[in-house]
Amino acid sequence: MVATDGRPAPNQQSSTFNLKSYLEAQQAQVEAALEQSLPQAYPDKIYEAMRYSLLAGGKRLRPILCLATCELAGGTAAMAMPTACALEMIHTMSLIHDDLPAMDNDDYRRGKLTNHKVYGEDIAILAGDGLLAYAFEWVASKTQDVPAQQVLQVISHLGRAVGAAGLVGGQVVDLESEGKNDITLETLNYIHTHKTGALLKACVVSGAILAGAAEDERQRLSRYAENIGLAFQIVDDILDITATQEELGKTAGKDLQAQKATYPSIWGLEESKVQAQQLVAAAKGELATFGEKAQPLLALADFITARTS
Ligand code: IPE
Ligand code: IPE
Ligand code: MG
Ligand code: MG
Ligand code: MG
Repeated sequence: MVATDGRPAPNQQSSTFNLKSYLEAQQAQVEAALEQSLPQAYPDKIYEAMRYSLLAGGKRLRPILCLATCELAGGTAAMAMPTACALEMIHTMSLIHDDLPAMDNDDYRRGKLTNHKVYGEDIAILAGDGLLAYAFEWVASKTQDVPAQQVLQVISHLGRAVGAAGLVGGQVVDLESEGKNDITLETLNYIHTHKTGALLKACVVSGAILAGAAEDERQRLSRYAENIGLAFQIVDDILDITATQEELGKTAGKDLQAQKATYPSIWGLEESKVQAQQLVAAAKGELATFGEKAQPLLALADFITARTS
């Protein structure tokens, strides 16, 4: 059940679950797997540039969502780790490209200079390309103990999530909408659900596919993911206004400067916060039937609105 005022429904989260230590443990596992995934090889410059951004930190929310969903649906972390790493490679590609002068033109990311500031635009574009291609190679070559048909489904979902029907499409409409003051809510929702929501949904759905989850479970998890995906971008847009560069590890106040179409620009800050809370509550409502097992995904949903970076 979901409280109608946007507050989390009672009895959905046990106080014994410690999100901080869960996140730290999952992040450590993901960092170790990412570190091993990408070699330092010839041509040195491109591998160095790829590793620079992939291993620059970040919350690692996407891989953690994939691992948590796979475990919730009866699989193991080992089954999902190659896909989890691939999701972070794809995400990192999207950040490198998003920061390019031709797109958002950002100088800082994850507390460091952006990829193009260090390696130049030519290498940054290629580092993104390299990470994107490597992600698919990694899933196909490293996934073990999962039937091939399920691995193929995951690859298909990843491709759709990152392409013109997903992230790329969302980024295009995001850029086209800059500086316009007549953006409809429909367009804004398209931008958010595609540029950010599609990949977050793929994290959850791929975890469910790898575990061989039943169709009804997949549907519920998919709706959970759609809700947290939209909430995630609303909170990103709120933090762009309210947080500092130190907290974010990226330049603050960029959206207003670039006249981006955002929830706060249309609804204002307070209403945007309410909407994000309502989406998180709706996401948690989808997990009711999973019981105690859903604790990590419930806590991850709360983390999306509670985060400060
Ligand atoms: C930033 O994503 C880009 C968006 C889709 C809003 P994150 O906030 O997950 O960035 P990292 O991975 O923690 O750096
Ligand atoms: C991020 O949107 C979308 C992708 C990177 C695909 P933003 O442009 O708002 O992300 P930040 O704020 O630069 O991280
Ligand atoms: Mg952008
Ligand atoms: Mg940006
Ligand atoms: Mg942003």
